[in-house]
Amino acid sequence: MENGAKQETAKIVLPDGTEIEVPLLQDASGAKFLDIRKLQPSTGLCTFDPGFTSTGSCDSSITYIDGLKGVLLYRGYDVEQLAECGDFNDSAHLLLHGELPTAEQKAAFDRDLTLHSLVHEQLIMFYRGFKHDAHPMAIMVGVAGALSAFYANAADVGNPQQRLHSCIRLIAKMPTLAALAYRTATGLPIIYPRNDLGYAARFLHMMFAFPTQPYNVDPVLSRALEKTLILHMDHEQNASTSTVRTAGSSHANPFACIASGIAALWGPAHGGANEAVLRMLEEIGSPERIPAAVARAKDKKDPFRLMGFGHRVYKSFDPRARVMRRVAHEVLAHLNITSDPLLEIAMELERVATHDPYFVQRGLYPNVDFYSGIVLRALGVPVSMFTVLFAVARTVGWVAQWNEMAAQQQIAPKISRPRQMYTGHMQREFAPPHADAGADGPAVQASREITKQVSSRERPSIAS
Ligand SMILES: CC(C)(COP(=O)(O)OP(=O)(O)OC[C@H]1O[C@@H](n2cnc3c(N)ncnc32)[C@H](O)[C@@H]1OP(=O)(O)O)[C@@H](O)C(=O)NCCC(=O)NCCS
Repeated sequence: MENGAKQETAKIVLPDGTEIEVPLLQDASGAKFLDIRKLQPSTGLCTFDPGFTSTGSCDSSITYIDGLKGVLLYRGYDVEQLAECGDFNDSAHLLLHGELPTAEQKAAFDRDLTLHSLVHEQLIMFYRGFKHDAHPMAIMVGVAGALSAFYANAADVGNPQQRLHSCIRLIAKMPTLAALAYRTATGLPIIYPRNDLGYAARFLHMMFAFPTQPYNVDPVLSRALEKTLILHMDHEQNASTSTVRTAGSSHANPFACIASGIAALWGPAHGGANEAVLRMLEEIGSPERIPAAVARAKDKKDPFRLMGFGHRVYKSFDPRARVMRRVAHEVLAHLNITSDPLLEIAMELERVATHDPYFVQRGLYPNVDFYSGIVLRALGVPVSMFTVLFAVARTVGWVAQWNEMAAQQQIAPKISRPRQMYTGHMQREFAPPHADAGADGPAVQASREITKQVSSRERPSIAS
C-alpha cells in the first residue's frame, strides 16, 4: 500500500449483527485477498476451506499461474520460453536465486550441480535394504529422507549459506538417487555420474549405460528430457510444495522436508498421474475401446476418470502441455515410432476427449502428465520411474520454495498449523464396554475422579 493511501477493506456482518472490517491485500497480479490473520483471535471465528481452494497460505515471488488464461511464469519468465530456449541449469538458477545467471554465475552453478552429483557410498548401501519389487517412489522417499542423516548440519535453517548449500546438494543428487533406485531394483550395475555431461544427459547415462561398453547419449532425447524437467520444476503452492513448506515451517532438516514432498507427489491425483496415464492406456487396450472408457469417465456413478485430463488450476489449457505435446511428437518422429499401440490409443483419446462437450465445457484438457507419460515411455523410462522423474524436476521448485519460506521464517516465524471443523464426540465418560472393566470397575471409577478434577480446572483457551 502506498504511503497515506487508505487500506481497502471488506465488511463482514457476523451472526450477532456485529460488523467487522477485514483488510484486503493485493498481489503483484492485482488479485485480492481477504487478510483474515486476525479473524480468529478477534472474533473466535475460523474460515473453512478443505483443499485450500480459496486460501493463500503464503506470499511468494517464485511462480505465477493464471489458470484461466493458461499462463505459467517462473520469476516472471514464460515457462514455454524457458523450456524452448533455456537449459536446465538456467531455469534452476532462476527459480533458486531469482534471476537468470551471468556468465560467471552460470559457470559456478554448473560446476556446483556437477560436483555435488555424487552421493556418499554408504547411502548406496541403503538401496540393498529394499525389497526387490519396491516401488521406486517408496525408495526415493526413504533415500531422500536418509540424506538428512548425512547432512545433519543442514538443520541450521537460519543460516542462508547452509540453506543454499542444501538446495544445491538436493538438485544435484536427485538424478543420481533416481537412477540408483532403478539400477538397484532391476539388479543392473550402478553407473556413477559423469562430470562431462549436462544435467539431463547425465541422468540418461546413469539410467541406461553399462560399464562394459560405451554409451552415447542421444542429444535429441536428452534435450527432450531437459525440456520435460524444466516444465515440471515448479507450480506454486501445489500439494507437494505445500507439504514441503509445512514440514519446513517446523525448521525440520531440508532433506527430510524434500522427502515429505516426494511422498505427497506420489499420489495419482498429483505426480502419480503420468504413471496412471500409462496404466489407463494399457487398461483401455485398443482404440476401439476408447468410447467405452470416455463414457465411463462421464458417468457420475463410476469413479473412473480420464487420467491426464483436467487440472485444479488450468481451466483452459495447461501451457506445459502445449510444449510437452510438441516434445512428444518430436521424440516419436526422431525415434521413428509409428506403431506403438499405447501411443496410438493416447493420440486417439486426445482427439476424442478434446472434441467431447463434457470435457470441453468443464475445461478438462490434456494436462502435462498426459504427454510427459508418452515422452518418458518413448525415452525408454519404465512406467514406475515416471513420478520419480517428476520428483527430480520438482526438487528445484521445492528447494526454492523451502528456501524462500525459511528466509521469511527468520523475520516472522510461523509454524503451519491449520484449524479444523470438529465433527466428533464432545467429551464423554471413559467407560470401555469390554468385560473386565465393567460399568463400575476401578478404571471407570478412576476416570470419573479425573473428570471431576478436570472439570473443576480452568481450561486454556487456545489449542496448542
Ligand atoms: C486434476 C484434478 C484432481 C482436478 O480436480 P478439481 O479441480 O478438483 O476438479 P473437480 O474434481 O471438481 O472436477 C470438475 C468436474 O470435472 C469432472 N472431472 C474432472 N477431471 C475429470 C477427469 N479426469 N475425467 C472425467 N471427469 C473429470 C468432475 O467429475 C467434475 O464434474 P462435475 O462438475 O459434473 O461434478 C482432476 O481433474 C482429476 O482427477 N484429473 C485426473 C488426474 C490427473 O490427471 N491429475 C494430474 C493433475 S496435473
